[in-house]
Amino acid sequence: MLNISELTPADQLRKLAVFLEADFSESLGASKLVLDNDNGKGVITNHVIFSGLVVRTYNIKLSEEFIFTKDESQMNPLYFLYCIEGYFYHKFENTDKVNKIGHLQNVILSSATDEQNTIILPANVQISMTAILAMKENMTEDVYHSREGLWKDVFELFEVDGQDTAFQYFGEISPRIAEHTTLLVKNTRTDVIGRLLAESAVLKTISEQIDSYQKSDANTNTTHGLRDDELRKIIDLGDYIKSNIGSKLSVKELSRTAAMGPAKLQSGVQHIFGETVNSLIIRLKMERARELLLNTNNTISEIVYSIGLSSRSYFSKKYKEVYGLLPSDFRKKVCDKEVIFELSYRSKAKKSLTQSDIDKMVSNSRSNNMRHNISGCLVHHEATFFQMIEGSKKDVLELYNSIKSDDRHTNVEIIWKGFTVGRTFEGWHLATVSGGGDLRSQDDPQLFEHINVNEMLDSLKNTSVAADILWKRVSDRMKVAG
Ligand SMILES: Cc1cc2nc3c(=O)[nH]c(=O)nc-3n(C[C@H](O)[C@H](O)[C@H](O)COP(=O)(O)O)c2cc1C
Repeated sequence: MLNISELTPADQLRKLAVFLEADFSESLGASKLVLDNDNGKGVITNHVIFSGLVVRTYNIKLSEEFIFTKDESQMNPLYFLYCIEGYFYHKFENTDKVNKIGHLQNVILSSATDEQNTIILPANVQISMTAILAMKENMTEDVYHSREGLWKDVFELFEVDGQDTAFQYFGEISPRIAEHTTLLVKNTRTDVIGRLLAESAVLKTISEQIDSYQKSDANTNTTHGLRDDELRKIIDLGDYIKSNIGSKLSVKELSRTAAMGPAKLQSGVQHIFGETVNSLIIRLKMERARELLLNTNNTISEIVYSIGLSSRSYFSKKYKEVYGLLPSDFRKKVCDKEVIFELSYRSKAKKSLTQSDIDKMVSNSRSNNMRHNISGCLVHHEATFFQMIEGSKKDVLELYNSIKSDDRHTNVEIIWKGFTVGRTFEGWHLATVSGGGDLRSQDDPQLFEHINVNEMLDSLKNTSVAADILWKRVSDRMKVAG
């Protein structure tokens, strides 16, 4: 058993690394433990989002059970725990009760002022989880009262002030939180991009966890009476509906698929998705229709058929209920370029390419892009190009086709393409990240950080959410860098 009483998150992680004989590295506000020996395999990271808010992610499998006790009595943090894979145990030192924190469970804890926490990580279980620690004492007054009093409300909600008993909330599974948490766990980077990704995902995770807590608090008298395995079946049902979207799905059929009576099914779907089975089916059908309207030239009748409906007028009515406009009007907006098509790719620059070749190419591209109302950004770093272009779907795809066959680069590989609303690089016909990949921090103009484009691309592969956050941040920073 290891006792950790170090005060800073980085020192705590360093101690853990020494104990597990793991590698430890630290950079600006972030630290990382990489384990690859007989004790196990995996990564644990810490990101200090700002003073008083730290996120720790675990993506690790240990060969033996590992118990550590943390003395955080001086900091008295509020913990938001969320496990996306595996499970672990938590216990307050003064009580005998050991709580199992399971897959997709929402847990919020704060220790009493003089209490220690014990965490037990089981052997041979892949554990992917996030622990967000909010420490009131370390937050500045500005932060504490910022965002319309967000933090003040958070601490008041969980009564962190002066309590002598611990606060514990072991909530029901909340699958919605997983999206943001997954992004946090996958993000093992400790550079500026890693911190930016973490910052956005942390705030979303906390607000989802609190939201889920408040909803369950308000509903304590209306229990759904479902076991965890039944709730999981209902989550799987969402995927089943998606893969069978072209069929005429009914409550009866779904009830048979989930091996659950219709009443139980309704109450479970209501609990997890917040709507009836029929409205869930309709919403998923409308989502698919929207995708098809955006990405294909299929006629509306073809789309109606492919989502398993037979009446076009019923489809239009439902589509309007969900998205606020008729499918035909939505398609017109896509054609009229109000919806922006975005494409990101990476490629390898040809070795013989000089800086002056690139400057010429950028200048030529800017006038071309201006003519076609295309905006975007080009990163050139260590013989890698990383570009995002945005505009009408037709123009972007035409340009991409010409870029793809350009012999100034090879290995052109799309990272993400799809529709978004509004432009990220409004007014930049082709922005470039200068200085070979240096990004200037918005908070401190003196602070430069180098981005390793290859590493960045690896961590962004096929995740539109991450690519989106990244480009928005790059654009913010470029506005500051001027
Ligand atoms: C990495 C890379 C990025 C490019 N980006 C653009 C661009 O944003 N806009 C553009 O018009 N051409 C871009 N090009 C050049 C096109 O491949 C193509 O040469 C150009 O559109 C042809 O324009 P031109 O007929 O006016 O010479 C890029 C080429 C490379 C290698």
